[in-house]
Parts: sequence; structure tokens; C-alpha cells
Amino acid sequence: MKRYVIGQLSEIPQQVGKVVRLGSLEIALFRLSDGEIHALENRCPHKGGKLAEGIVSGPFVYCPLHDWKICVEDGWVQAPDRGCVRSFPVQIVGQQVIIELPEEAKHVS
Ligand code: FES
Repeated sequence: MKRYVIGQLSEIPQQVGKVVRLGSLEIALFRLSDGEIHALENRCPHKGGKLAEGIVSGPFVYCPLHDWKICVEDGWVQAPDRGCVRSFPVQIVGQQVIIELPEEAKHVS
């Protein structure tokens, strides 16, 4: 795993997706009402909708294109649809938000 500082905690609004880019990888950050921050690849497994532009409700985001319901905590698409979005571990150290990416994310420089 490689760790990347992607910003400050205060820069991430609650219940609204925020996009960060690491190399060619686009990540959607979601800060839930409990203060937890979750990171998903900003790409719906259906047809590539930008998840950061979706509506957040509880621990779910609704894809802005066709309304698939996706859990931001683990990336799983909720029934009746199926699939999974890549999710990445997030750590908060002080005020810094740190994301961990697997080594195979080679397109990150
Ligand atoms: S692209 Fe996300 S539901 Fe279709």
C-alpha cells in the first residue's frame, strides 16, 4: 500500500461528494454525518457515472445517471442492481486526510 495525503479534513464537506485525482485515478470522497470519510473510485460500475455528483443519503450514494444505490463504506451496489466499486482505505491523522492505494495502482505517480 502507498499512502497519499489528499487534503485537509476541513476541505471535505459532509454528505456531498468531493473529487480528488491521484495520477489518472479519480476518487470520490464522501464524509458522512458520523464524520467518517470514505473513498471510492469515481466511476459507477454500470456505465461510468460520476459518483461524486450523486445524492448522498445515509451511507449510500445514488448514481446521478441511472440512480443505482451504492454503499460508500464498501462500494457494493445494492439490490436489485449488482456490482462493486473499488474502495480505498482512508485515515485521518491530525487534520490530514490520507488515502491508501494498493501498489498495483501503477498509474499513480
Ligand atoms: S451509470 Fe451509474 S447507474 Fe448507470
